[in-house]
Formats: sequence, C-alpha cells, structure tokens
Amino acid sequence: MGFGANHTVGAETDTTVCLESQITEGDEIKPTVGGAIFPQFAVISSSERDLLHLVLYYTEKWTGSYASQSGYICTDFGTGCYNFGCHKANTEELAAFRSDPRAEKESTEQLPALDIDRCRGDPAHPSGGVMIRLVIANQKGGVSKTTTCLSLARCFAERGLKVLMIDTDSQGSIASSLGLKVTNSLYHFLIANYRFRDCVLPAHANIDILCSTRDTVEAEGILTPRPGRELIFQVTLSTVEDAYDVVLIDVAPSITLLQSCAMMYAQQILIPLTMDPLSLQGAFAALQTSKSLNSLFKSQVRPVAILPVMVDRRLQMTDLIMNSIQPVADEYGIPILNSIRTDSTVPKATRARQFLIDYDPRSKAAEDYRTASEQLLEHLKGQLNGKVLA
Ligand SMILES: Nc1ncnc2c1ncn2[C@@H]1O[C@H](COP(=O)(O)OP(=O)(O)O)[C@@H](O)[C@H]1O
Ligand SMILES: [Mg+2]
Repeated sequence: MGFGANHTVGAETDTTVCLESQITEGDEIKPTVGGAIFPQFAVISSSERDLLHLVLYYTEKWTGSYASQSGYICTDFGTGCYNFGCHKANTEELAAFRSDPRAEKESTEQLPALDIDRCRGDPAHPSGGVMIRLVIANQKGGVSKTTTCLSLARCFAERGLKVLMIDTDSQGSIASSLGLKVTNSLYHFLIANYRFRDCVLPAHANIDILCSTRDTVEAEGILTPRPGRELIFQVTLSTVEDAYDVVLIDVAPSITLLQSCAMMYAQQILIPLTMDPLSLQGAFAALQTSKSLNSLFKSQVRPVAILPVMVDRRLQMTDLIMNSIQPVADEYGIPILNSIRTDSTVPKATRARQFLIDYDPRSKAAEDYRTASEQLLEHLKGQLNGKVLA
C-alpha cells in the first residue's frame, strides 16, 4: 500500500505515524514544515532490519528519516529537525505499533541534570582539554561504520592512545562483534545515573567501551522530551573523558537523537563510504544532519575525512564513486583516506569475536586500516595535545 500523491505529511501539528509497510518504493509524499509544502519527496527505500527506516529524496539532496520506537518520525528537511507524521490509513497496524510498551512507558528514573555549569571550558569541548573526538557516520547501514570504529580504535590503541568507544546503536553491534557480555550499558550511564566506571567494559589495555543494548531505544525515548537533550554527552562525559586521548562513537544507520547528541559532543565526523550510490547518499544525509545541527545550535560540526571502504578496484562502480567523492572532499577541504579493500577476513574476525587487527594483523583490510589510521592521526595530530605516539 502506498501513500499516493495526495497524502500530506504535516509537521509539528500532526503526530500520526506512518509505518514502513505503508510505503513502497517510488511513492511520493508531500511533506509540510510549518505550513509550507516542500517539494515532492520520493520514498526510495524502506528497509532496515528492526528499525522503521525511510530514506527520502528531496530535490537534489538526500536526507534520512527514522521512525523512532516512541512513535514519531524524526526527520530533517535541511531547515532544522522536525518531527513529522503521515496521514495514514492503516489504523490497525498503527494501533499494534502504538501498543509497543516501550512507546508508552513513562520513566520514573532520574535523568542526570543537564547542568551546563558542570561543563568546564568550551561547552562543545567540555573538558577544555585537547583530544580527538569522532563520530563515524553514514546514514546507510552496512557501510562499515562499526568495523571502522573497532579497527580505528584498535589501531590508535596500538599507538599508545587511550581510546573510549561509545556505541549508540541499539543493535549493540560493538559488544556482539567483540563477544562482550554487557551488564550496564549506555542506558545505565545516561539515564540511570550509574557511575561511568561501572558501565564501561575494557576490551584491550587501551580501549574501554560504553556499549549499547536494546535499552538504548528506551534511553532515547526518555531523553526525547527533555530540553537540552542534544547536550547529554557533553554534560555526562565531561567528568570522565580526561582519561582518554580519543573518543570514537558508532551510530545507528538512521537519524536518531543519540546521533545528534554524538555529533554535538564530537563536533567531528568521519564518513565511511562503500562504492555504492546509496552509501554516497547516506554520506550526504549525515552531512545534512550536521548542517542542521549547526544552524540550530550555532555549533561547528564538520566532516574531517572520508574513508572509502569495501573497495574493489576491479569493479567499474569503484571509479565512478571515487570520482564523485573528490568534489565533496574538495568542497569541505577534507582528505580522502587510504581505501579499505574488501577482505573476507573482516567478517571472519567478527565471527571470532576479535578485533580485525588481532585476528589477522597481516590481512589486507588490517593493513589498510593501519595506513588510514596513520593518515587520520597525522591530519588530527593538533588534537593530541602533543602526546608522543608509541
Ligand atoms: N573491508 C571489508 N571487507 C569485507 N567485508 C566487510 C568490510 N568491512 C565491513 N565488512 C562487512 O560488512 C558488513 C557491514 O559492516 P558493519 O561494520 O557492520 O557496517 P555498519 O556498522 O555501517 O552497518 C559486516 O558483515 C562486515 O563484516
Ligand atoms: Mg553498525
């Protein structure tokens, strides 16, 4: 079932939810924001395991959209972040969706106060100290975000840098990739006010991880109505981050509140890109999110590098995509890092629950990640506070 051209998507006033199953490829919907009708959106994809995830085409630009468990679609039309809904038809399906207890639950738990005074120095960089903070972002799933986060963390650790990895994706891929048993997660740190040291898990002498679980969905629901929610990482990490040289944040393949929080905290985005047009569109969507945050919060979230991943030079598409990312890199004045080749060792390392670099340090992808991580460190060395690398 599709919306058809006469379905209007209303912003702010309309909180009806549209379901993934009500949209089919090629459907057109008319979104309005603050009463103004936007140019036609074409729904080009509507699948993401476990998430109600849409990718919308807006004139020449791509933007992502995510129907959160709490019952809204949060999207971004380039003018800011809005919740919007679709008039829709299938009330039974909608009722079933609404009956999800997570969507209804009112939390009685105490949120740590968003007390900005707890931030020292620049609110964007609360410690006032110097360290590398990076969000690995691309709105498309399966583009090596998690693999890149894990591999860069391990490469940085090898150079003697203390790394904190934060997984904000409720699928919990970081913990499952490393076979970590999670008791306390990001939820407990952000929402239940547990001590940081009781929530992080050590994964290597130089790597600590704040893991996500399904509870992260609930954390988002609890945070969503709170004013100042985008600053949650700034506030909560300010007292603990000094122990680290690098904070790497893995995000879900969709626009979620925690992705915005991560971007506001890190202010820097690394964009992994597979050699496929949808990945490029996912990259643009991530860039669009950062622009929206900047216009809303007067922040300076910016991309720092593009990392081509799963690259197979024999494929024609590789040249096509490589040629189309050069202008993007030029526009932002950012480097394209050493490409990571497609390598069957990567999924094998995940199955073995190990970092790629530990599983097979001489594999093609491990070598490529080492080179890329060195380039990234060189590019961002000003943020290492003069720390001498091992
Ligand atoms: N360089 C690579 N070569 C081969 N497979 C890869 C490579 N990088 C990632 N993969 C595989 O692609 C899949 C998606 O990667 P993942 O890091 O989970 O992406 P994302 O976090 O963006 O969804 C995983 O199965 C992973 O093992
Ligand atoms: Mg992932």
